[in-house]
Amino acid sequence: MASIQFFLCLPVLLAATAAGMAAKAQAKHSQCLDNPPDMSLRGDEAGVVVSDLPGGFRGYVTGSASSSHAIVLASDVFGFEAPILRKIADKVAEAGYFVVVPDFFNGDFYDTSKNISEWIKFHSPVKAANDSKPLFAALKKEGKSIAVGGYCWGGKFGAEVAKTDDIEVVCLSHPATVTADDMKEVKCPIEILGAQNDTTTPPKLVYQFVDVLRQRSQIPYFAKIFPGVAHGFACRYNTTDPFAVRTAEEALAYMLDWFKKYLK
Ligand SMILES: *[C@@H]1O[C@H](CO)[C@@H](O)[C@H](O)[C@H]1NC(C)=O
Ligand SMILES: *[C@@H]1O[C@H](CO)[C@@H](O)[C@H](O)[C@H]1NC(C)=O
Ligand SMILES: *[C@@H]1O[C@H](CO)[C@@H](O)[C@H](O)[C@H]1NC(C)=O
Ligand SMILES: *[C@@H]1O[C@H](CO)[C@@H](O)[C@H](O)[C@H]1NC(C)=O
Repeated sequence: MASIQFFLCLPVLLAATAAGMAAKAQAKHSQCLDNPPDMSLRGDEAGVVVSDLPGGFRGYVTGSASSSHAIVLASDVFGFEAPILRKIADKVAEAGYFVVVPDFFNGDFYDTSKNISEWIKFHSPVKAANDSKPLFAALKKEGKSIAVGGYCWGGKFGAEVAKTDDIEVVCLSHPATVTADDMKEVKCPIEILGAQNDTTTPPKLVYQFVDVLRQRSQIPYFAKIFPGVAHGFACRYNTTDPFAVRTAEEALAYMLDWFKKYLK
């Protein structure tokens, strides 16, 4: 069953063209680095930080450890300490899942004092996916079936893991550096949540993903472009902007529905 939902198709295409031009005009600007997490939003957390995840990761874990379903959330470049990401993890846990948010950066989160081109050399999402094999193996050994929800940097991580037999289902929210070729190798149901104003993975690139997935009859997929928001909308939104909050909640609901459908 393949499905696709694009709101505002024509305006989105036009906006994508405009966004593409804007991107060229300021090629150095990356939306991946916009709106860094506001650490003052840290509040009650249902989970705990552990330092001994299989694979040698620290991580935030939340939800029922006895659940037969594990969700691994892969952060953006700002890492697993982001308060909004922790809240998302707690909400996913409330749906009955055991949730793990690994610290793939070993504390070396990106911040604006760092050179992203340098930083990324030491924090490849492709390498992280490989390094996470022991984590997925351990969760499997506990009898859990596994989903990955990836945001931005974590979207590429998710796409890489989706090429293996390590997980059952994946959801990429405003991914970064994912290519149409990646879609040729995905082995599990994949959901892609894009944004109308995303200059990192603009709608036209999401359409390319869909074009590839459409030709792969065995792989269920779903893609949606959220109008009126930019890259980062699902996990780095303005918490005092009702529209931004509602859109992020909607994205979370789509991810949860996708996991519920395919996580056996
Ligand atoms: C960041 O690092 C790259 C090399 O990886 C270099 O070309 C670039 O000039 C650096 N940018 C700044 C602002 O230092
Ligand atoms: C993948 O991870 C294994 C350890 O799990 C390591 O031995 C191997 O070198 C890694 N490969 C790459 C390409 O990083
Ligand atoms: C999205 O793009 C439209 C058209 O370019 C612009 O009016 C709007 O302010 C942008 N919204 C966000 C959240 O970036
Ligand atoms: C967040 O949203 C509020 C309400 O719409 C607005 O007043 C504020 O300027 C926004 N903050 C940022 C950083 O965009």
